[in-house]
Amino acid sequence: MLCLGIESTAHTFGVGIVTDKKKILSNIVDMYRPPLGWGIKPMDAAEHHRKIKEDVLGNALKEAKTKLSDIDLVSFSQGAGLPPCLHVGLNLAKELASKIRKPPIGVCHQIAHIEIGRLSTEMTDPVTLYVSGGNTQILSFVEGRYRCFGETQDIGVGNALDKFGRDIGLEFPAGPRIEVLARGGRYQELPYTVKGMDLSFSGIVTEAVRRVKSGQSKRNVCFSLQETLFAMLTEVTERALAHTKKREVLLTGGVAANSRLRGMLMIMCRERGARFAVVPRELAGDNGSMIAWTGILMHKSGMRTKSGILPRQRTDDVDVKWL
Ligand code: ATP
Ligand code: FE2
Repeated sequence: MLCLGIESTAHTFGVGIVTDKKKILSNIVDMYRPPLGWGIKPMDAAEHHRKIKEDVLGNALKEAKTKLSDIDLVSFSQGAGLPPCLHVGLNLAKELASKIRKPPIGVCHQIAHIEIGRLSTEMTDPVTLYVSGGNTQILSFVEGRYRCFGETQDIGVGNALDKFGRDIGLEFPAGPRIEVLARGGRYQELPYTVKGMDLSFSGIVTEAVRRVKSGQSKRNVCFSLQETLFAMLTEVTERALAHTKKREVLLTGGVAANSRLRGMLMIMCRERGARFAVVPRELAGDNGSMIAWTGILMHKSGMRTKSGILPRQRTDDVDVKWL
């Protein structure tokens, strides 16, 4: 069985083709980049997606050495995400699904991150730390659903890094640039805001920007910002692990590329005797193959999609029937 998955929740438009034997045949992504100094404007991102969707689709089919008539199932990211962007994915999914005469299946973006993570790392039942631009969540499977054990109360940790970067003149996405700038920096205390199991980042960013603008060393501020944000994430992940008594930690999302974050989580897992794995970079960011693979899992467990987009969909809205 071949599933073609379409991702379009935010910056990234992606198409992936995956088999039900866990083989990823293609995974093409194209990312919208806002002009320097700007955040993402949903309408502009959607316009980008509309412009490049046919090319991305064509390249995905070509790389998989297949054609649309060989596709058995079409899936799309149904939510959570930006409505104009989600509509581009939905419309393409409807169009392709009508050509192959099979109803499209709507996939929860956050769950797709976990499922492609499980597939690529062979983890069975992890606590997942999902850290991307817009999302920061600590998730784990409990009683039939992926439950959120902790999350950001304001912006995602990737957006926090990007906002800090934008305000001090770094190009988007700033996360990787901050990682490089932080090398050899010295720690200086910043606000640390963990509230119960939830996190909040915007106050820390404001303070970090203020320090750079008042002439403090960019290197030290970048270093301290990373130390603070990642220690907060590690603390909450550790508590979720202790609470659920699980033995695996899975790190995913675009921010999973960061070596300092990986290092901190690795130490925490070693101390607790838990296995730690990071989703490979090409599958950790937003992509179509995670939507395709989750589409297969949902379809095989008999799930069908009735509604269109769900911009505010939560992970625990979905009955996980495939586990
Ligand atoms: P969503 O939140 O919907 O998943 P997204 O497209 O913003 O959307 P990703 O593509 O998963 O998410 O991740 C992009 C984020 O990852 C950006 O905020 C970027 O700064 C951050 N990022 C990428 N590489 C690194 C790195 N090495 N260190 C820290 N952050 C990084
Ligand atoms: Fe994502």
